Amino acid sequence: MSYLMSVGVNNNTLMTVTWNDEPVYVKMIDQTKLPETLEYIICKNHYEICDAIRNLSIRGAPAIGVAGAMGLALCAHNHVSDNKNDLLSDLSSAYKSLVETRPTAVNLKWGLDKILEVSYRYETVSEIKENVIKTVKKMTHDDIETNKNMGKFGSDLINTGDVIMTHCNAGALATVSYGTALGVIRSAKESGKKISVFATETRPVMQGSRLTAFELVHDEIDVSLIPDTAVGYLMNNKMVDKVIVGADRILKTGHVFNKIGTYQIALLANSHGIPFYVAAPLSTFDLKNSIDTVVIEERSIDEVVQIAGKRIAPKGVRIFNPAFDLTPPNLITGIITEKGVLNPPFEKSISGMFGMGDVSS
Ligand code: MRU
Repeated sequence: MSYLMSVGVNNNTLMTVTWNDEPVYVKMIDQTKLPETLEYIICKNHYEICDAIRNLSIRGAPAIGVAGAMGLALCAHNHVSDNKNDLLSDLSSAYKSLVETRPTAVNLKWGLDKILEVSYRYETVSEIKENVIKTVKKMTHDDIETNKNMGKFGSDLINTGDVIMTHCNAGALATVSYGTALGVIRSAKESGKKISVFATETRPVMQGSRLTAFELVHDEIDVSLIPDTAVGYLMNNKMVDKVIVGADRILKTGHVFNKIGTYQIALLANSHGIPFYVAAPLSTFDLKNSIDTVVIEERSIDEVVQIAGKRIAPKGVRIFNPAFDLTPPNLITGIITEKGVLNPPFEKSISGMFGMGDVSS
């Protein structure tokens, strides 16, 4: 059985990123082309992976974690000398280029660290090449299995008839497949619960309308698209039972970095008494940084001044385009992981999950 068939991948499964052996390349859905066309791009070296991550052909924290790891594996595979130190030096400069592509999602660093660690563990260049490729294939398989487990834990929190709001895209397209927040929604549907979804458009890059709506329509899950500005209206009119979003980085204190706009949705949910859940794998937890040391990515002003290539703001206006925001733990009802649901107080439940004694240092 192939490494992907064992986690239930079939012809109808959307696979965001995969490793190909003969010939060696990385294949990924070009998310900039969705929803109009489902096109794939082929990357044969880590430079192409850097471009794909930077221009959002691939995006979403777990997906860029695996893509980054595959970038390093391509770098190892393409290395020509038999000298281990030369290979490690190539990998180290590829690591730097890859890690700088997007600074906020910690999964990217997680994926790169994993490959570097495997590379240092083996003696010869051929052993390193063989084992980094094995590792990226396992990461692909594990990502899907992780999401399915997260889905099962999250599904227990959903009642039949629930209307769930989600923001950005935390679906199959943000992971290797199945998704985190949308994985919970998929799992609830698979268990026979009747649910429906409100997806926010997610200005300025429109991950909600272009990607979440695309995925849910593809999987025949009842979805309605709303402007970001309609969140308060829906909540005030009792049209939402639960919110579930993904995460790009979760600190040991339970502070969650996610797509810009998440914080205001959490505030609104809180003031309307609506449960607000975050679904994320353990690879999204960053136990070292604090809220002051995490870099919030600022993206091109073109994302704000243009819609579909047409300018919608006057020349000369100043633009600020932060891509992520921070939701504090007091606004979060629970964090759904592949090992179970973390409840407040998060500092305690997170330290318990990671088996840490003292989390204050
Ligand atoms: O800028 P993006 O599209 O990479 O941002 C993605 C998000 O913020 C997602 O909500 C997050 O990565 C969780 S995905 C499982």
